[in-house]
Amino acid sequence: MSATPRESAPVLVAVAWPYASGPRHIGHVAGFGVPSDVFARYQRMRGRRVLMVSGTDEHGTPILVAADREGVSPREIADRYSAVIAEDLRRLGLSYDLFTRTTTKNHALVVQDLFSTLLEKGYLIRQTQLGAFSSATGRTLPDRYIEGTCPHCGFSGARGDQCDSCGRMLDPSDLISPRSRIDGSPPVFRESEHFFLDLPAFQVALREWIEGRQGWRPNVRAFSLNLIAELRPRAVTRDIDWGVRIPLPEFADRDDKRIYVWFDAVVGYLSASIEWAELSGSSEAWRDWWQDPEARHFYFMGKDNIVFHSVIWPSMLMGYGSGGHYGGGGGRPALQLPENVVSSEFLTMEGTKFSSSRGVVIEVRDYLERYDPDPLRYYLTAAGPETQDTDFTWREFIRRNNDELVATWGNLVQRTLQLAVRHFGGVPTPGELTVTDRELLARVRGGFDAVGELLEDAHFKAALGESMALAAQVNQYLGEMEPWRLVKSEPERAGTVLFVALQCVADLGTLLTPFLPFTSQRLHQMLGGEGEVAPMPVLTAVGEGDDRHQVLTTDLSRASVRWAPAELPPGRRLEPPQPLFRKLDPSAADAEVDRLS
Ligand code: MF3
Ligand code: ZN
Repeated sequence: MSATPRESAPVLVAVAWPYASGPRHIGHVAGFGVPSDVFARYQRMRGRRVLMVSGTDEHGTPILVAADREGVSPREIADRYSAVIAEDLRRLGLSYDLFTRTTTKNHALVVQDLFSTLLEKGYLIRQTQLGAFSSATGRTLPDRYIEGTCPHCGFSGARGDQCDSCGRMLDPSDLISPRSRIDGSPPVFRESEHFFLDLPAFQVALREWIEGRQGWRPNVRAFSLNLIAELRPRAVTRDIDWGVRIPLPEFADRDDKRIYVWFDAVVGYLSASIEWAELSGSSEAWRDWWQDPEARHFYFMGKDNIVFHSVIWPSMLMGYGSGGHYGGGGGRPALQLPENVVSSEFLTMEGTKFSSSRGVVIEVRDYLERYDPDPLRYYLTAAGPETQDTDFTWREFIRRNNDELVATWGNLVQRTLQLAVRHFGGVPTPGELTVTDRELLARVRGGFDAVGELLEDAHFKAALGESMALAAQVNQYLGEMEPWRLVKSEPERAGTVLFVALQCVADLGTLLTPFLPFTSQRLHQMLGGEGEVAPMPVLTAVGEGDDRHQVLTTDLSRASVRWAPAELPPGRRLEPPQPLFRKLDPSAADAEVDRLS
């Protein structure tokens, strides 16, 4: 965390935009989806004004490649997979205030405004560059279609836009022995005029900004500072026909050049905020997040996205400042820069790199056909790639589901509620509390500070671990107190023990709500609570005519729960509980692994 912003400072949760080039796999949602939702839910429970935005990234080569592969238009690909992805994210319970698309009218206008403003201010330079063309067809060869050896680290599978080994940005002409990924032939390079973002102009400001930030994960910080040491102007247009149009009269009807997909996508954070404000009926409301100098912006993504969020987008924001149509007017403050760039590492799958091209993936929708969302959210937080590459295995998924969700948390909830309902019909009235009772209650209450602090700093794994450790302590307490015996010998003491356990269960339910929103909502109801503790996103259609599009939104107006202990009223009637989690048969792991090969 930086400085100390006021408690009520608005929080922007900016979530990476998945490409609408195919269904997303669980590695994707481990990187951007689950962590951002845990963070946003927690921040809202703290009473902060949160705006969580994202959408599908629908331009550029990734979409063109998919269109070629499936023999349909890029528009069809974008429509099809935007719908699939939005549905997956909905079912995972990701509580976007707005999850939209980059093919909207609003988005194009905002992107073009940034482009024109940067051009006017001299931060975009026109220059010719060697562009790659297929020697076979003469058509332009998009960056990602070109492979070669990275000039920085020698990795032989570097792509024309980026090296996946050392993470550096590349231009196709940088590659040593470049070849087309389609037919292996070396591309021919021809002069082509492009617009370049003058990154060196921001070098000093970027360094100062990153050095002044606190709480960045060390690898993200080191990696970003490293990039800043060697900045070059970067082309932000491409020789393709699928993207946002360049906002200059001479390009109005030229179908061979478009704005680069990455320039377009990062602007999505701003354009989606503007669209959200429009849809919510107060069109200037986005400024509360973007032009309040204390607003706090947290970006969530996988590590292959770092450069775009820690270098390119901040440069664009600095260049735009308080200018243009959306930033400017009336001496307004400049647009806010990121406070933290929260990047995850990669999730590998049963020992192999998660790679759609190799087919070794678990698609989110396949997972959801067979399992519930909370166990995946749990696994990806507890054992996900928060700070290092990690391997997803079905065996470990099932083990954690059974040993941790079912045996620790689910079992605690189940036996506490069952005993209370069976013997007391609801929340017992406690007698005098012992020192042990009080200590346990205090320890669980202390979780709100301890877990909260970890969540503020995006330490999700530790935050979940802390909550589960508290659940284990309550289990241990029950094991020692044996209320199931006491009900016969000392019914009043049994009531007290169950009261203490129920109170702990209620507070643990609150602590776990950001991680396990579906089961926490059910637990809340089983405990006789009212209202919503974990609002869920819904799909709706917005916009007019050919701008009609589907979005995810979340209605937070009925959400009531706070990040604080809440007293359970003695005497409240409770219904017999239903199990929160299903035990999974360990042999299912083999069947799942078989599906992969
Ligand atoms: N579509 C990109 C990917 O999947 C992420 C874009 S994030 C944004 O890697 F910043 F551009 F929005
Ligand atoms: Zn490299």
